[in-house]
Amino acid sequence: MESIWIKTSSQPDYGTLQGNYSTEAAVIGGGLAGILTGYFLQQSNVKTIIIEADEIGHGQTKNTTAKITSQHNLIYNKLLENFGKKKAEQYAMANQQAIDQYRYIVSKEAGDCFFEELPAYLYSTNHQDIPVLEKEVRAAEKLGILSMFTKNTTLPFEVAGAVKFSNQAQFHPLRFLEAISRNLTVFEHTRAEKVEGNRILTDKGIITAKHIIFATHFPFINAPGYYFARMHQERSYVLAVEGVPKLDGMYLGIEDKGLSFRSFNNVILLGGGSHRTGENSAGGKYKTLREKASEFYPKGIEIGHWSAQDCMTLDGIPYIGQFSRSTPNWYVATGFGKWGMTGSMVSAMIISDLITERENSYSELFSPLRFTPSSSVKNLTSNLGQAVKGISRQALLISATDLDDLPVGHGGIIKKEGENIGVYKDENGRIYSVSTKCPHLGCQLEWNPDEKSWDCPCHGSRFDYKGNILDNPAQINLETSEHE
Ligand code: FES
Repeated sequence: MESIWIKTSSQPDYGTLQGNYSTEAAVIGGGLAGILTGYFLQQSNVKTIIIEADEIGHGQTKNTTAKITSQHNLIYNKLLENFGKKKAEQYAMANQQAIDQYRYIVSKEAGDCFFEELPAYLYSTNHQDIPVLEKEVRAAEKLGILSMFTKNTTLPFEVAGAVKFSNQAQFHPLRFLEAISRNLTVFEHTRAEKVEGNRILTDKGIITAKHIIFATHFPFINAPGYYFARMHQERSYVLAVEGVPKLDGMYLGIEDKGLSFRSFNNVILLGGGSHRTGENSAGGKYKTLREKASEFYPKGIEIGHWSAQDCMTLDGIPYIGQFSRSTPNWYVATGFGKWGMTGSMVSAMIISDLITERENSYSELFSPLRFTPSSSVKNLTSNLGQAVKGISRQALLISATDLDDLPVGHGGIIKKEGENIGVYKDENGRIYSVSTKCPHLGCQLEWNPDEKSWDCPCHGSRFDYKGNILDNPAQINLETSEHE
């Protein structure tokens, strides 16, 4: 289902690339990170184009809850412990500066994007979490963030406590994107298929550029960079419920099944159900959110639901900067965790400074070339373990003879001539069959009943039930077969 942002915005048609093109900088990916990078480069008089395989903002940007905040769950105490004060301070300052940049750009270009300055809260309903929350307040204060502990919220239930950050913001991400894209050179429906040196080979022509920026959510190139080995993806789910009193801020629960809340006029966006992509074969994520919505807002009316996908790095800090040691003129912006609004702005600031050779005091912290053994090794091992498990994973099979009994709207895996075949029965009883071998690196796909999609537990590629690709790093559709 379409997100509320799609329903309440309209984008102009930017046209497609027509033949070959030469430019100073080329950005692959027309989401928030790519468009902001293009915007900053144009401000610095660098001739830049942006290409997008679909339409701008129609990747992850349309699915965000669009909280512009430096409050990235319980991160500051962890950063202090793992990285020390200087780096933790740089992280805090970079993200605070990102909020300031939004404020500035909105005032110049995007007055109608529903930008609102509001506090952000991390809350818990469990009294045992109070010391953790208080510790986070102290860590944030130490790093220069205006922060306090409170028990007062406008949530529809009591909390044990909350960390409040002042001067944060929220907005309408597609309205903002539309406003800042107006004067940029954008080509939509132009898919990058390969990148070789300073050439991008697309399905519409070849682009030659001195600088190439990968802003494709998950980089689609396996080597160099090897991002698939140092990131995994997570999915989470959102309900839009109308007729709900406005909250005084944006909220995120720190407990295991903690929920996310933000208002958009009289609509509440209720989020939750986060899981590693490819690990939701039981489904029920929207059902749980609906139960919560009717408990908290019995008079509310659901007007939409959708899900989002996020890239998680090994140490919790995004990868922003030079793509790899062997490609000095390639840049990457990825791994924003659940914090794509500030992550996009920080990456646009850093990458535009790198290209224009301006000093940037945050670039080293976010550099993808970093390696921090203490915080990376454990997660790297876990990612590799997941990949091995994903390749050798035994599919949960349904019997081919039971296929007639498969209810409409359901999917599953059958074994046919030694091969695993994914099947889905649509509302008219028609069966769609696809290979469940992920075309990225061969892992076993899992059926996601909430999204009716085939999801990869290794690196997070996703496909619809017809086999069409939905999410990177895979680049091609699934093989399909006729079912007799
Ligand atoms: Fe890498 Fe599926 S996304 S194997």
